[in-house]
Amino acid sequence: MKIAIAGKGGTGKTTLSALLIGALRERGIIPILAVDADPNDNLGTALGIEVTRTLGEIREDFIDRRPDIPAGMTKGALLEMRMHESVIEGRGIDLLVMGRPEGPGCYCFVNNLLRKSIDELSRNYRAVVIDNEAGMEHLSRKTVAAVDRLFLVSDHTVKGIKTALRLKKLADDMAVSVAQTRLIVNRVGVDGLADAVRWEIENSGLGPSFILPEDEAVARACRQDTPLVGLMETPCGRAVRKLLDDTLKKDVT
Ligand SMILES: Nc1ncnc2c1ncn2[C@@H]1O[C@H](COP(=O)(O)OP(=O)(O)O)[C@@H](O)[C@H]1O
Ligand SMILES: [Mg+2]
Repeated sequence: MKIAIAGKGGTGKTTLSALLIGALRERGIIPILAVDADPNDNLGTALGIEVTRTLGEIREDFIDRRPDIPAGMTKGALLEMRMHESVIEGRGIDLLVMGRPEGPGCYCFVNNLLRKSIDELSRNYRAVVIDNEAGMEHLSRKTVAAVDRLFLVSDHTVKGIKTALRLKKLADDMAVSVAQTRLIVNRVGVDGLADAVRWEIENSGLGPSFILPEDEAVARACRQDTPLVGLMETPCGRAVRKLLDDTLKKDVT
């Protein structure tokens, strides 16, 4: 199953990605490929995996330094090998970090190959979770061609829901193949959804939303830069577990 997480910066994409990965692991749905497609962020920290290399570095290497291609090997095969090497292996969870956005130069050749390779790579995993940046660049370039779920994360504001709707339209325009989109409203307090937000959701056509609670344990982990992936017995962790179970019920892996 491929799940992409998208939303405005700071809404909780990395938090949701990490907890979702924790829930998948708990359910024994491993191996999992975690893809950090947000150059500003660090899914690695949230997963407790040290990032030692990024795909961006490898790509730059190909563009700038024209690698020595061993005899009998094609450029494509070498790139594919390097891409496999760039996957950081953890316990049940492997991490692929996309890294910085591209500089000037023609990346078409490399990107075309990468797209194919990531597609092939993901076949080795039972689940792929992609933590996207706001513009969903990697989805738009179809680094990942098709996903089973697109989780659109919004904060608990009317503006946030409007932004989520814009992102949904962007995904539609980009013709990303998405089996199902789900709106996730994050950091909702004990009083539940505010009326204005509920109204906005109902009128957005985004379908039923899923609520993640405001959670001090999650906020503390982020403040202290400690992993989130193990925080499954927190209000947020339990909610994400339910989200996964709901998703699995309607899905075949
Ligand atoms: N449910 C939550 N409860 C409390 N704090 C949260 C929650 N979700 C996210 N946060 C906090 O909000 C900030 C942004 O979250 P993050 O997942 O990094 O967002 P994004 O990846 O979308 O930029 C972090 O400091 C995080 O601790
Ligand atoms: Mg993030």
